Amino acid sequence: MLITLSVELGARSYPILIGSGLLAQRGVLDPRLRHRDVMVVTNETVAPIYLDPVKTLLAGSPVSTVILPDGEQHKTMATVNLVLDALVNARYGRDCVIVALGGGVVGDIAGFAAAIYQRGVDFIQVPTTLLAQVDSAVGGKTGVNHPGGKNLLGAFHQPICVLADTDTLRSLPDRELAAGLAEVVKYGLIADADFFAWLEDQAEVLLRRDPAALGHVIRRSCELKAEVVGEDEHERGRRALLNLGHTFGHAIELKAGYGEWLHGEAVAAGTCMAAEFSARVGTLDPTAVERIRQLFHRLQLPVSPPPVEPGQFLAAMGMDKKVVAGQIRLVLLDRIGSARITGDYAPHELADYLREQFVR
Ligand code: NAD
Ligand code: GLY
Repeated sequence: MLITLSVELGARSYPILIGSGLLAQRGVLDPRLRHRDVMVVTNETVAPIYLDPVKTLLAGSPVSTVILPDGEQHKTMATVNLVLDALVNARYGRDCVIVALGGGVVGDIAGFAAAIYQRGVDFIQVPTTLLAQVDSAVGGKTGVNHPGGKNLLGAFHQPICVLADTDTLRSLPDRELAAGLAEVVKYGLIADADFFAWLEDQAEVLLRRDPAALGHVIRRSCELKAEVVGEDEHERGRRALLNLGHTFGHAIELKAGYGEWLHGEAVAAGTCMAAEFSARVGTLDPTAVERIRQLFHRLQLPVSPPPVEPGQFLAAMGMDKKVVAGQIRLVLLDRIGSARITGDYAPHELADYLREQFVR
């Protein structure tokens, strides 16, 4: 079954194609390629499994390939430069198309290279992790990490198409599948209480990779993300809600060392922290905090951060992109299904919470 959604951005609107067997569907990308030069960017883990099918899919176009090292620790300007060098060496012009084949790391690197090569070329996302299919491939946030902070370097640059073949999830390790579910829970928490309750019902079914349940999760997540991005592409307002748990989570990723905690794992623990802090400042009922922790626990995701010195954790949170005039703004929950971005809490509350968190 093919599901087609759309990210509505006027002349830059684009489709999200979701379905089983899409990589084998000859011609599915042809209307977007029209024999243009294509650079496939992938990594050493994904290439042996999916590069050949993708090359077959792109058979009408001249195709070059860049195979990056695998891992969050390689989401740096160095790998962006590998892509840029390949584009220059192939003498590709502004009419080329970059195809990002892989998870969120490949998508973020390839998308950023597409944003800056010759001041911007087209790119297509072919996400192969659950996390990328439900989140990172949609919405045009591209970029890389800096030793001083997660995703500090980047650009908004929308893909021209997202092609999510759900069959690729069959080869995904269990830990990576669970990490993707962390971002799925996020959508329920910020925007759809019924979806959250459905996830509570289906947690074990999802971990068993039931195709219908996974299909529903990808569709609902992309619907919600497409709606938010269509309304607030450049995160001037509502889009910031998609960062629930991420200010805490990015600090976990940075302090643990990029790649030690998976992004989704850090988001799960970070979301539990955001929920606890919401309850502490009085916006969220403590029973909701327990529901959230329970769901992440059942999804085999962490619900607490690793040990970090609280002052260092706070300093890492201070490099978040939502900081305004030195104030750390947080996405806090009012209830399951409703969140807001706010700096409306006493700064000592956060420092106190972190101190207590790390001496448990
Ligand atoms: P990832 O890209 O590192 O992929 C996870 C692992 O799975 C890697 O080892 C990868 O090689 C492997 N893999 C990928 N597809 C596979 C498949 N089908 N079968 C077997 N192995 C496969 O991690 P991720 O969770 O996909 O993405 C995390 C990244 O996404 C983080 O850097 C995060 O910051 C970023 N992100 C970006 C956005 C955005 O809006 N741009 C949103 C959320 C997350
Ligand atoms: N993952 C957060 C966003 O795309 O805005």
